[in-house]
Amino acid sequence: MDNLTNIKLIKTAYSKVKSDILVIGAFENLKNNQQIKEINKQLDGKLIKAIEIENFNGKIKSQLLVHGNNKNKRILILGLGKKNNYETDRVRSIAADLSKYANSLKLKKLVIDGDSLGLNKTDITEAFIEGLVLGTYSFENYKTKDKGKQVLKNIEICGNVDIKSIEKGTVLGKAVSFARDLGNHPANILTPSFISKEAQRIADKTKDMNCSIFEMKDIKKMGMGAFYGVAQGAKEPAKMIIVEYNGGPLKQKPVALVGKGLTFDSGGISLKPSSNMDEMKFDMCGSATVMGVLDAVSQLKPKLNIIFAIGSTENMPGSNAQRPGDIVTAYNGKTIEVLNTDAEGRLVLADVLAYVNKKYKPAAILDFATLTGAVLIALGNRASGVMGNDKKLMNEIFSASKLSNEKVWELPMWEEYTREIKGKYADLKNIGDGRLAGTITAGAFLKEFVDKTPWVHMDIAGTAWGPKEPSYQPKVGATGVGVRLVWHYLNNYK
Ligand code: BES
Ligand code: MG
Ligand code: ZN
Repeated sequence: MDNLTNIKLIKTAYSKVKSDILVIGAFENLKNNQQIKEINKQLDGKLIKAIEIENFNGKIKSQLLVHGNNKNKRILILGLGKKNNYETDRVRSIAADLSKYANSLKLKKLVIDGDSLGLNKTDITEAFIEGLVLGTYSFENYKTKDKGKQVLKNIEICGNVDIKSIEKGTVLGKAVSFARDLGNHPANILTPSFISKEAQRIADKTKDMNCSIFEMKDIKKMGMGAFYGVAQGAKEPAKMIIVEYNGGPLKQKPVALVGKGLTFDSGGISLKPSSNMDEMKFDMCGSATVMGVLDAVSQLKPKLNIIFAIGSTENMPGSNAQRPGDIVTAYNGKTIEVLNTDAEGRLVLADVLAYVNKKYKPAAILDFATLTGAVLIALGNRASGVMGNDKKLMNEIFSASKLSNEKVWELPMWEEYTREIKGKYADLKNIGDGRLAGTITAGAFLKEFVDKTPWVHMDIAGTAWGPKEPSYQPKVGATGVGVRLVWHYLNNYK
């Protein structure tokens, strides 16, 4: 990861600040903009003159850069658009554009006037900081040349701004960046062992966190035949990773977050076509979401109990790989015909879901998975598909989606779909009857492993990589989708 991380609040007022560049926000028509008036005075009328010459009127995405004096060498006025339209996602985007722009000008430091940018509201501040951090995200780990595009290192914010919101925004921006990194590493580096070491590292430095790693022999011994069947074909050792976070009262039931961590999905014996198969390194992005939240929770310490669970393996062909037609027994005793070895994510998740459900009796389970190509057909890169068995939990996810501006769209879980995954020779089969409603039949399959526990499944195959807009999304690679949404869910948890 290479991005901006040092953002602090300073006591000096914008009118007293000394800087290489001072950033001021301006709503459309520049009405009552105190800051512009004041700086204009300091610059002997030069600012208003520049505004007139350039016809600058605060339209969204417009900006005006003027030379200053020996107090502030430059002044950057950012157009914020109409005041009524100024909401968190727009702010996140404006901030991302700003930090990108600063980078392109090779500026090391920015001083920002928080008041003119509306940072006296905590949600606006958080979004603004997230945007600053995410706007400068780039993954340069494997480049030996052209490194160091990240020039902007420090940001100072002045005005009536809540320091806690700055810190929170920074933590979340970094947690999303961490999730992106995990997604972007190639599969020869980012193995199940890599993910488990990262989980252990975060848990070790956090009191209240406890990490257990389950090996292949444990997975077999515990009766996780579905997970084992997928993992048996891979030489790279599989891991089930569980982190318990005890931030709440001892007796309080935890929330469980479960992630699909397929570090590479070749399809197995039901081999995928070779075009774009490289993208299947991203098949662990569900686990990256869980890891990103883990990172944020380890720093923000919410007062509740959380279980982080990841099933991680490769899905490979080979002489030890499972065959189409194999029948396996999952942790909850249900038997499954594996009719397509490429529908492996649901097999891995089946066992992790059933295990977490039995062992921890969670109040709610959320799972994240790049589960089906079909969700791309349904929703493209614009929204994650969500399915569940509980209205209240689903509504909480909708609220978190609104707060984070990470879009979700619900697909139905009618029992007709469940009929499609009934097995011929076993209780279940791991694919539907045809290709139709592939996202829903996958969801219906997972539903068999959570009993009556309130549960929401999020299919992020279209959103974990691919989206290029808004501007806080990366130009290439993993997005870190879901981390902010889950944070908001946890933050409002009652
Ligand atoms: N990891 C894939 C889903 C996927 C495909 C994610 C393309 C992102 C882009 C998953 O394991 C898979 O292969 N699903 C199959 C299921 C099918 C065999 C029922 C699919 O979607 O084709
Ligand atoms: Mg697959
Ligand atoms: Zn997969």
